[in-house]
Amino acid sequence: SSSSVQKKIGIVGSGLIGRAWAMLFAAAGYTVQMYDILESQLVTAQQELDKELHSLEKKGALRGQLKASEQLALIGFTQQLEELVRDAVHIQECVPEQLQLKKSLYSQLDGLLGGDTVVASSTSTFMPSLYSEGLQRRQQFQMLVAHPLNPPYFIPLVEIVPAPWTTAEALERTRLLMLSLGQRPVTLKREIEGFATNRIQYAILNEVWRLVESGILSVADVDRVLSQGLGLRYALLGSLETAHLNAPGGVADYFKRFGAEISAVSATYGPTPDTQAEGAALADIARQCEELVPLEQLDQRRATRDAFLIHLARLKKQFE
Ligand code: NAI
Repeated sequence: SSSSVQKKIGIVGSGLIGRAWAMLFAAAGYTVQMYDILESQLVTAQQELDKELHSLEKKGALRGQLKASEQLALIGFTQQLEELVRDAVHIQECVPEQLQLKKSLYSQLDGLLGGDTVVASSTSTFMPSLYSEGLQRRQQFQMLVAHPLNPPYFIPLVEIVPAPWTTAEALERTRLLMLSLGQRPVTLKREIEGFATNRIQYAILNEVWRLVESGILSVADVDRVLSQGLGLRYALLGSLETAHLNAPGGVADYFKRFGAEISAVSATYGPTPDTQAEGAALADIARQCEELVPLEQLDQRRATRDAFLIHLARLKKQFE
């Protein structure tokens, strides 16, 4: 929209996720500046953005009203943090997932920022209080998490997560900003380990692990349960609306009919598997996964997935 033109967004870290955010903001007409500690990363980012935006344009999959060259012209680069934060309405932090690294970045930002800039972390694992609890001005510092899913260009969900001292105004501003990009934000009422996405994702991984470890299904078959079954419904609807449609009288009827069964099955899950231990279970899962997709074909498989996510994103727009 024309109102977003001139508003400046600062992006800290120009890796995979930093570049994805730069593309989303530029597509919506924002002025973007990217910062990185490594000059070589900024050079790579510039080249990759040029390549990716032109390739999306060729495929007819470029987001927004502007041409690829116009979007590229909105994206600038700097190695000065002071310059990055100047006049920025929003800073999106995309540095590697290491707590100490993020903490030292946040204390640097604490000294540079006025109260008008929201700082959002892309973190997928750290609760926002972990970075901001030690900050001098944590009450004024408008810090929260805005967690995307990879690849953000085709997966619209953003989880917005507050620290206990994040203001309602900062949360709402961020929610509206994400909407202005065409993303679909959800705002958690308070922070919780794993946010919502990973809590649900890990519940699935735990059960899938148990089914393979106990020899009930192979890796290929357990993944089929999602990719050829549940996942097709979940690509369109969430699990509660799915339940709502699955009983004649809606969701209340669904749980009246199946609630006892859900509890009985759930009581048989057993302890959480130790997925970190490099035991026989992990070796077996790794072997089977590598038979499906050899390690040297992972990049190609990712590219294929992303290409089809473009089609899925279009279908979902029609569905909605
Ligand atoms: P990446 O490793 O691709 O990029 C990180 C960038 O940060 C590099 O360019 C690096 O040079 C730069 N950097 C390191 N220290 C810095 C500092 N002090 N100041 C400025 N820049 C610095 O990492 P990626 O995958 O882009 O992840 C970034 C964040 O996004 C992480 O918190 C990660 O958990 C989160 N995330 C990643 C997803 C993924 O699938 N890769 C999905 C969702 C969130």
